[in-house]
This record gives sequence, structure tokens and C-alpha cells, in this order.
Amino acid sequence: MGIVGLGNMGRYHADYLLQKKVSGCELTAVSDAIPANLERYRQLKTFERSEDLIRSGAVDAVLIATPHYLHTTIGIDALEHGLHVLVEKPISVHKSDCERLLGAHRDPKLVFGAMFQMRTDPRYRKIKQLIDQGHLGQIVRVNWIITDWYRTEAYYASGGWRATWKGEGGGVLLNQCPHNLDLLIWCCGPVARVRGFCQLGRFHSIEVEDNVTAYLEFARGATGVFVTSTGETPGTNRFEIAGEKGRLVLEHGRISFVRNEVSMFEFSRSSRAGFARPEVWNVDVPFDPSGAQHHLIVQNFVDAISSGARLLAPATEGVGSVELANAILYSSLIGETVEMPLDGGAYERKLQQLIAESRHEKVVAEVATEDFTQSFNRQ
Ligand SMILES: NC(=O)c1ccc[n+]([C@@H]2O[C@H](COP(=O)([O-])OP(=O)(O)OC[C@H]3O[C@@H](n4cnc5c(N)ncnc54)[C@H](O)[C@@H]3O)[C@@H](O)[C@H]2O)c1
Repeated sequence: MGIVGLGNMGRYHADYLLQKKVSGCELTAVSDAIPANLERYRQLKTFERSEDLIRSGAVDAVLIATPHYLHTTIGIDALEHGLHVLVEKPISVHKSDCERLLGAHRDPKLVFGAMFQMRTDPRYRKIKQLIDQGHLGQIVRVNWIITDWYRTEAYYASGGWRATWKGEGGGVLLNQCPHNLDLLIWCCGPVARVRGFCQLGRFHSIEVEDNVTAYLEFARGATGVFVTSTGETPGTNRFEIAGEKGRLVLEHGRISFVRNEVSMFEFSRSSRAGFARPEVWNVDVPFDPSGAQHHLIVQNFVDAISSGARLLAPATEGVGSVELANAILYSSLIGETVEMPLDGGAYERKLQQLIAESRHEKVVAEVATEDFTQSFNRQ
């Protein structure tokens, strides 16, 4: 395995691969555009250019952990040179780039996965299982308030690419929320239409969105609201799903499920009393508390290569969260409801316009050394 991009995330992946947390896989090469970032990996093959790592013969697969726009170009290069690819989230910045990247996956022998480690989190696996097995019945409403992505100005100043249209292509929807949007679709199904309200640079000196409220209509009929922010603290992380057979809430790391003894639709039709409600049961939903694990996605990727295991997060499914993020932002920018599937070309043109009209002066500054894993371990 080779890693391209040795920033916060790439170094984290390298550490657990070097600690042999993934069996059947050896980290043999790394690449970073900044030579100093290669210093601590001198025992491996090191490359300043991803092209050289990809053509080196030193790796069968690459894990791409660069700024997002490069996921597309480096991913295409790796797939076209016969490597298996595991790409960080978001798989690309916008829907058209996702299609270009997925279009380069022509060889069915190559495994192409995406780093959606939250899909390994037993809490979300349990919620998906409860929905898929029909325990909630028809879903009527979904609300996710995920406002505990608090980030300081120092965070945004920590990389020239961050929070710019040109370098990152978006804000909280594209950087912090791909996991939430992926889980939303994974658990509740595809979204049919979106009305987004995004505030650009509301809390920080940035040009992209850092405060978002979106109204969603799911293809299966549920309505929903998705709220996110990087400027609010203490934030909330509450995922609430109301179905005909009860209401499920994930908050403070606990799943609570209040189950209607009978379907609320049936009850409404058959009850003779106007203010009556179905009896409810408070269900304790047990789950393994181990949390989401990046190395499990890599292990699954390696198992898919070596023994044909089914991918937990195939790259093809990575387009959904990008398309939804794009649609929320696009709806806000044009002031209209957006029907899905999103017109990827129209969104790309809008993004190019934002890049062309950008007047924001990006300030880059050194940040204090801190535990980067706090950024995902608190979820
Ligand atoms: N799955 C997760 O939980 C998670 C968490 C954080 C970040 N990420 C994703 O990981 C990616 C990187 O984020 P980060 O926070 O590590 O960013 P970062 O800025 O800390 O690191 C990016 C690294 O890529 C290097 N780079 C830039 N261009 C390159 C090129 N052409 N070839 C090789 N290296 C190059 C940079 O020098 C830098 O070291 C992003 O797409 C982000 O969304 C995922």
C-alpha cells in the first residue's frame, strides 16, 4: 500500500498501517508534495510526486489523503495505472468530478473504495439495520442537527487550500459533513429535492459556507431538516428519525427507540377517540461501543482485493454525499428548490464562477500541535 498526502489524515493512516493494525497489507511507499513531510518515513520508498509513486511498481494500491480536488486527478491516474484505490472523503469536490473519477474505474479487477469509516460505527450500523428490517415502518421525518463541528480561525488558517472555492471547493458541507450526508442516505435512502440555506463566512473569516440549514424531501416520502455549523459551541449532534412504528434518536452516544405498539397510521384510521395515541414501549437498543474505525475500512479494502470481500463503502456510493452537499449549496446560491438528480454541469459552472469572482485574501498561519484525532473521535 502507498499513501499519497501526509497531512493530518495521511499520517494517521500511516501510523496504524506501520503498527500492523491491518493484516495482509504492508505500507511500502508514501508521497507528499512537501519534502519535509517525507522525513519520518525514510524507511519506506518516498516520492515528492504522486505520479512517481503510482508508476514506481512499489505498491499494489494507494490510499489518497490529499486536499479534495486532487482526489479526482490522482485517483484517475492511479486507476489508469492499474492500482487499487481507496480515496478519502469526499471522493471529489463536485458531482461532475465524481463521474470523471468513477469513469476511470474500467477494470473490474481493481477495487475502488472510499474512506467512510462511520459506516463501521456500530451505532449507525444498528440504526440502518432497524430501518432496513422495518422496525420503524415507513419513515416520515428525519432531522439531523449536527452543529458540533466547531472549528476556530486557527483551523481555517492551517492550510492554504482550506475553506476556499479554489482550493477546497466548499466548507462544512464538503469537509466535515460528507460522513453525515453519507449516513443520512445510507440509512434513510435517496433525497428527491432540496432547499438549502447556507451562510458563507458567517462565523469565520472564510468565503465558503460555515452555517447551513436544509429542508429535504426523501424519495420514499419522508421530509427532513439537516442543520450544521462550524461556528457554534457547545454544539448538538442529534439524529432523529420518526417512522410509523416509532421514533428513534441517536444523541449523546445513545440510541433511544420509542416504539409504537401499532402503526400510527393504522391507529389513526381505526381509533374512535380523537385524542388517543398508540401505547409505546421504550426499547433499549444494545450496540458495541467501539465507535468508528478507519483501519476497519482499510482492512475491508484489503480483504476485497485479496479474497473478494464485499466493500463496506464502495467509491460508487461516495457520489451521493457529494451530490447532496452540492445540491444544498446550489439551492442556496440560486435561491430555489433543487430537484435531484442534480445537474452536475450547472453546479460545476456555478463553482467556477465563485472561483473566478473570489476576492477573499486567504491567511495561512502555523497552528499549535494538537491531537488531530479529536476532530473525528468526538463524533
Ligand atoms: N475520514 C476522515 O475522518 C477524515 C478526517 C480528516 C480529513 N479527511 C480527508 O483527508 C484529506 C486530507 O485532509 P487533511 O486534514 O489531512 O489535510 P492536510 O492539509 O493536513 O494534508 C494534506 C496533505 O496533502 C499533501 N499534498 C498536497 N498536494 C499533494 C500532491 N499533489 N501529492 C502528494 N501530496 C500532496 C500536502 O502537502 C499535505 O501534507 C481531505 O480530503 C479530508 O477531507 C478525512
